[in-house]
Amino acid sequence: MPATTTAISRVLLLVGVVLTAQLCGCTAYGGDGFSVEFIHRDSVGSPFHDPSLTAHDRVLKALGRSYARADAPSAHGVVSELTSTPFEYLMAVNVGTPPTRLLAIADTGSDLVWLNCSKKGAHGPGPVFAGDTPTPPPPPPRVVFDPSKSKTYRLVGCDSVACRELPDSSCAAGDKCTYYYYYGDGSATSGLLSTETFTFADNARGKRTTRVPNVNFGCGTTFVGSFIGDGLVGLGNSNLSLVTQLGAHASVGRRFSYCLVPYSINASSALNFGARAAVTEPGAATTPLVPSRVKTYYTIDLVSVKVGHATYKAPHRSSPAIVDSGTTLTFLDKALLDPLVKELAGRIKLPKAAPRADLGLPLCYNVSGLREGQIAAKIPDVKLGLGGGAAVTLKALNTFVVVQEGTLCLAIAPAPERLRTSIIGNIAQQNMHVGYDLDKRTVTFAAADCARSYPANAHAPAHAHAHAPAPAPAPAPSGSV
Ligand SMILES: *[C@@H]1O[C@H](CO)[C@@H](O)[C@H](O)[C@H]1NC(C)=O
Ligand SMILES: *[C@@H]1O[C@H](CO)[C@@H](O)[C@H](O)[C@H]1NC(C)=O
Ligand SMILES: *[C@@H]1O[C@H](CO)[C@@H](O)[C@H](O)[C@H]1NC(C)=O
Ligand SMILES: *[C@@H]1O[C@H](CO)[C@@H](O)[C@H](O)[C@H]1NC(C)=O
Repeated sequence: MPATTTAISRVLLLVGVVLTAQLCGCTAYGGDGFSVEFIHRDSVGSPFHDPSLTAHDRVLKALGRSYARADAPSAHGVVSELTSTPFEYLMAVNVGTPPTRLLAIADTGSDLVWLNCSKKGAHGPGPVFAGDTPTPPPPPPRVVFDPSKSKTYRLVGCDSVACRELPDSSCAAGDKCTYYYYYGDGSATSGLLSTETFTFADNARGKRTTRVPNVNFGCGTTFVGSFIGDGLVGLGNSNLSLVTQLGAHASVGRRFSYCLVPYSINASSALNFGARAAVTEPGAATTPLVPSRVKTYYTIDLVSVKVGHATYKAPHRSSPAIVDSGTTLTFLDKALLDPLVKELAGRIKLPKAAPRADLGLPLCYNVSGLREGQIAAKIPDVKLGLGGGAAVTLKALNTFVVVQEGTLCLAIAPAPERLRTSIIGNIAQQNMHVGYDLDKRTVTFAAADCARSYPANAHAPAHAHAHAPAPAPAPAPSGSV
């Protein structure tokens, strides 16, 4: 791929210059960037919210999905071994002219952007996959994108850099670039590589919108497996992802950040692009991205795990860890997890409960009758030592989760051996501003009160505040303490 790689970078640079000129004429794009809602699939604001589930049911389902994602068999051996359909966050994209609003999975573990396109219109029926696996029926369709109704829809030619950048493609009659994209669990999509104008509604500025022309995306017409939402926005570390495509506009830069509101709080999280993605909070810790076995993943070096004065060093001086928003649990190299569990077990003075072997969770406590604050006070901070000397503090909220009424478990499981990497999941990232800068090749973490500090929640109701006291004498009201 090196030839393609060089070619795409050149073309992206060229496109960047041209687009920047267009953008400055029509929007305020390029100033301080923009923010959109980062919607947890189970949250009240999500169309997939199931009011019949208790908070604990939701946590259990999310934990189960962590396994589906982390342990997904690599059916085709391509693209990704981590990414599978159980994604956790969604974002709205407005596509075409006039725009159609679609709610897409936002995924930091893959790169292609694709939408569910209607089969009538600009192109014929999609290609058929050989050897389709039997799969459960997908949820009812919500919005499909109809290319024939948009003035700005274009197909992408087979000789284009974007087409050649695809891991698997073919050329259909009429110079149409057909893509085939597989996820680690065997789910897949295919259709025609296309470009469109994407419009993002900035949550922080009310009516301000950012229009971005010529975003490459897959107009999907064939699917294997079940996906939630109307499409998928890849935010991974490669040139096909939305982050890199937006970053072609010099003023925005290839960067994004999010601030994940704890599960227990009824407010949405923020996903920020451009200057908004700068993590400038006090105590921000920056660590370099390191080369990854799968290029799309954001991989950093995990050097040590610390509790109080006890430090456990990673084997071979450092061990790779993927930072991912789409995995709920954290998966840790066993060489680090075993001593961590021992250390925590020795320090936490709470009545033990049976471990949840079914969930792979090695350390649980009976917290019935205790309040959120009482529980949190008994749980020591865990410090992750990262490459470049950075340290990230995980609080009780980031390390423990209530898996059922009165049962609190360490939300860290042993990393599946064949992954050969740890995964820092989304529980560990709650109430942190996490910024990815692909130009500087860094990831930055800072403690934050996500329900308060981020534009998507500028009007969050007071009752949603992170430090609202839990109703006594109830246990932690939901997934986390
Ligand atoms: C992606 O593009 C950048 C510059 O825009 C370039 O430096 C890099 O090599 C490209 N990577 C791939 C895999 O194409
Ligand atoms: C895409 O839309 C079609 C038609 O509404 C629907 O049958 C299909 O299940 C959808 N596919 C996905 C992956 O959502
Ligand atoms: C969550 O917040 C929204 C918006 O403020 C509100 O309409 C809704 O009733 C709240 N839901 C719950 C379960 O608290
Ligand atoms: C937790 O402890 C309470 C007493 O404080 C007891 O009633 C309850 O059965 C225990 N729960 C479990 C799951 O062990």
